[in-house]
This record gives sequence, C-alpha cells and structure tokens, in this order.
Amino acid sequence: MKLNIALLPGDGIGPDVVEQAVKSLQAVGEAFGHSFHFEEAPVGAAAIDETGDPLPEATLAVCKRSDAVLFGAIGDPKYDNDPKAKVRPEQGLLKLRKSLGLFTNIRPIKAFPTLIEKSPLKKDIISGTDFTIYRELTGGIYFGEKKLSEDGSTASDLCEYSESEIERIAHLAFKAARSRRKKLTLVDKANVLETSRLWRRVVGSIGESYPDVELDFLFVDNAAMQIILNPGQFDVILTENMFGDIISDEGSVIGGSIGLLASASVGSDIGMFEPIHGSYPQAKGKDIANPVASILSAAMLLEHFNLQEEADAVKLAVEKSLERGVVTPDLDKESTYGTVKVGDFIADYILHNDDSTQINRE
Ligand code: IPM
Ligand code: MN
Repeated sequence: MKLNIALLPGDGIGPDVVEQAVKSLQAVGEAFGHSFHFEEAPVGAAAIDETGDPLPEATLAVCKRSDAVLFGAIGDPKYDNDPKAKVRPEQGLLKLRKSLGLFTNIRPIKAFPTLIEKSPLKKDIISGTDFTIYRELTGGIYFGEKKLSEDGSTASDLCEYSESEIERIAHLAFKAARSRRKKLTLVDKANVLETSRLWRRVVGSIGESYPDVELDFLFVDNAAMQIILNPGQFDVILTENMFGDIISDEGSVIGGSIGLLASASVGSDIGMFEPIHGSYPQAKGKDIANPVASILSAAMLLEHFNLQEEADAVKLAVEKSLERGVVTPDLDKESTYGTVKVGDFIADYILHNDDSTQINRE
C-alpha cells in the first residue's frame, strides 16, 4: 500500500515523539512492503513563530492532499498566561479538526499487564480495564460563540449541539460497541444541561436500531468517580467534546502514564492520529519524552487503513519494550533509556520480530 502521511510535529515534545513514530512506520514499510511518504508542515506555536498563524493555509493544504495526518502536540507556556494573546497555538488544532471534518475522537484506555504496578490506582481495581472513549470533537462549548464584554468583566462560551452532530458520532460509537463487549455508556449532565438532554434523546432513539448493544447513561460527575472506582464496568463511552477532554486525561491514570495513550480523530476521508498528551515544554529536546503514545497513534493509523497485521506488529513491539523495561523515565525513574532508544528498540523489534532485538544502552 502507498500512503501519503502529513507530519505535524507541533510544539514542545511533539517533534521528539513524532520522529519515533515515523521510525516505526518506516520499519513497518520495510517489513511489510508498503511505501509511506511523509510531508512535514508547521502547526501551533511553531507556526505562529514562523508565519503568525497557528494553522497556515500551506499546512492545511499539505493535510488535505494526504491520506492521513500524524500530529505531535500543541501549546507553549508563553501563550498560557497571556489573556490578551490574539492568537493561541490551540486554535490551530481546533481549526484543523474542524476543517478536516474530524468529528470523532477515539481514545482507547487500557491497563497494560506489565505496567499494572505503575498506576497510582490499586492493581485489583484496574486490572483488565479495556474501554474506549468516543469524544465528539467539532462541536459543543469548544466551538460555540465566545463573548467578552467591552469592559472585560463578563464572559461567556456557548455550548450548542444539533441532532445531526450527535447522530453521526452515535452511530460510530454503537458500531464500535457492537464489535466489542456490546455496552455503550453515554456520559452527560442531563440533570442540568439542555444539550445533554438532546444527547440522551438522540442517542436513545438511535439505540433502538442497535438492540444487541446495552445502552446506559451516566452523569459526568459520577462518571469521573466511576472511572477510577470501577473502570472495568466500561466498554465504550460516548460523550460530548469537553467532558471527553476531561475524562480521557483522567482515564490515562489507569495506564500508569499519559505518555502511553494514543488517539484517532476520524469523520472524513483523512484521519488524524495523535497522542493525547500535551506539549510538555519542560521536556522538549531532552530525550526524556515517552514516544509510546505517538507510536501507538501510528498503529491506530495503520488500523484505519485495515493494516491490522502491521498494527499488531507495532503493538507487540511496544509491549515487548514495556516487558523488557526499555521505557522512558516517566515509567521508571531509574531508567537509562531516552526517547530515541525506546523508539529504536520498537522499530527494531518491528523489523526483526524476534527476541534477539538488541537492547542498546549507549
Ligand atoms: C486534547 C487537548 C486539546 C483539546 C487542546 C490542546 C486544545 O487537550 O486533544 O485533548 O482540548 O482538545
Ligand atoms: Mn485534552
């Protein structure tokens, strides 16, 4: 297969981790006879510095002529505490999601058996956890009208959803549940919010065409508690944009490090694949960022093109790296491996697929 992949490394550790994901994809290309062509473009603070725009037209054009986008991270502290900043790096990511029609963000949450001791949560609570969050990505409060009164003393953000925005993601979530353990949980705040009541009505009626899937509803405050009390109860969680943002960071605690969680954003012909972690600017260029989330995002990219065997090879290589302790310091304070060495090990394992893969400590 031939694939054109846009690389948008972005800010902070984005470039560090995307480089390792590319290495894994190149290894897959070599091992399975595919040809992946990469084209890099700036986004976020990196793009503001270069062009004044967090998503330059040229970057969007690169994405639109690609089959998929591999995204790094976005955000720079120099914008975070400046309420007057006219452009923010994050706007680049939001505009990209909207422009590419990526209305569904899929975030799998799993407790890796080899890392079970790393999680701050108790082993018997998290073992066996395996659920996926379907987060709506192009609507809700993120995209509603924003207002700031002239004197700056009052502000508002509108949360708006239409039936059709809910329907399209609901179908994807029901189908996912159907191919898994057949349980879908809608997370909302229907005791307070009108938009949540709309979600309940629309999702409830779509549920009638998926009688094999058990549908239940949970308020988001309770869901936040259940995710760390009893995560094993979840199979597929469907939720709106902001709730999904919050509970997916919470879910990352189960895996032991946010540096492990991958995501896929889908909805149109072009899929985008990115780690859920942020830009972690303090670690930029220090060879300490965990590349696994980015590498597993590349595996999700392969799955998106039905390259299941290839995706499995990447996941197996990641598991081997975890098993053999070839991990970055977020997972093992004593570890002497950095971002590059972990990436090398994984790419090497994909290529040779055997336990003779060398652990290179230099
Ligand atoms: C994420 C991030 C983004 C979001 C930010 C960077 C805009 O936190 O992908 O989860 O809130 O969606
Ligand atoms: Mn987030």
